[in-house]
Amino acid sequence: MALIPGIFSSDMAIDLGTANTLVYIRGKGIVLNEPSVVAYHTKDGKKQVLAVGEDAKLMLGRTPGSIEAIRPMRDGVIADFEAAEEMIKHFIRKVIRRGTWTRLKIIVCVPHGATPVEKRAIRQSVISAGAKRAGLLSEPIAAAIGAGMPITEPTGNMVVDIGGGTTEVAVLSLGDIVYARSVRVGGDRMDDAIVSYLRRHQNLLIGDSTAERIKTSIGTARMPDDGRGAVMQIRGRDLLNGVPKETEISQAQVAEALAEPVQQICDAVMQALEATPPDLAADIVDRGVMLTGGGALLGDLDLALREQTGLSISVANESLNCVALGTGKALEYEKQLRHVIEYDI
Ligand SMILES: Nc1ncnc2c1ncn2[C@@H]1O[C@H](COP(=O)(O)OP(=O)(O)OP(=O)(O)O)[C@@H](O)[C@H]1O
Ligand SMILES: [Mg+2]
Repeated sequence: MALIPGIFSSDMAIDLGTANTLVYIRGKGIVLNEPSVVAYHTKDGKKQVLAVGEDAKLMLGRTPGSIEAIRPMRDGVIADFEAAEEMIKHFIRKVIRRGTWTRLKIIVCVPHGATPVEKRAIRQSVISAGAKRAGLLSEPIAAAIGAGMPITEPTGNMVVDIGGGTTEVAVLSLGDIVYARSVRVGGDRMDDAIVSYLRRHQNLLIGDSTAERIKTSIGTARMPDDGRGAVMQIRGRDLLNGVPKETEISQAQVAEALAEPVQQICDAVMQALEATPPDLAADIVDRGVMLTGGGALLGDLDLALREQTGLSISVANESLNCVALGTGKALEYEKQLRHVIEYDI
């Protein structure tokens, strides 16, 4: 089954992620990519939006009492409805002129495991933000399309999307999901694991953004061959005397800190393989597994997964953009994919 572009125009696709929101406009590609964060200023009991996206992320963990920086998405679904709606509205306004809103159709991707209530909340917030029609697409399908996998063929394809909040493992064939499982382990959990490792082993308290920086700079899923690897200078608060302290963390320590979330990702892949019908599982052994999402960029995660599962593992090009690109492509190939895009829920 070959994909033929549809005839719709002025359509938009949104990857409403726990960490980042991306907006794709038909014919233009990805036009916005910002952190999913909203900052509010409270004055005389009234809440006002102060910043959204990049500017708001800079405020996380650094706000005075009158300002609150919120991440509206948690585990891939809406945790704060009001903030999510503000954020979507703000991003839509940023990328299109108001006059074109009347015909706006938006496809948003949702985690495979989202409940009907969670899906309705996402649809509702997109409609309230100005869309005339809102369709939902399952995230693993979007990730696989975005990674360029031949998902409409009658063969088994496995995609593992490792986001900020969740890791979704899915087996696809003939354009739909045969098996999917979402585990609440992703980049946020990795950051938490680094924070608690340093608290336990070095009595050092660091913030979430420092933990994320450690992970993206020297983070690794495997013990370095020399037993230590690269080293990074870090700053935090000494929990014994309460004063700021500068120290260092090695790649080996980060690998130790990340061992648990990495193991949980490996386990999810193994479970998916065990639950996959034998012919499709054989296809996956032949074709290997595709990793997408920001978490796929963790150093040596592909190697760690290969060692544990025996499968060949690839990291998608533009892994952070796959879901948005795939949702965008779904706009263009809507006819062939209509059975997987939900407009009424
Ligand atoms: N080089 C890197 N190494 C490790 N992690 C990384 C790297 N680059 C980004 N990340 C992590 O990837 C995560 C964001 O990925 P992504 O944008 O795919 O998530 P999301 O789509 O917002 O979340 P979800 O799909 O769970 O809703 C963050 O936790 C970020 O720290
Ligand atoms: Mg995502």
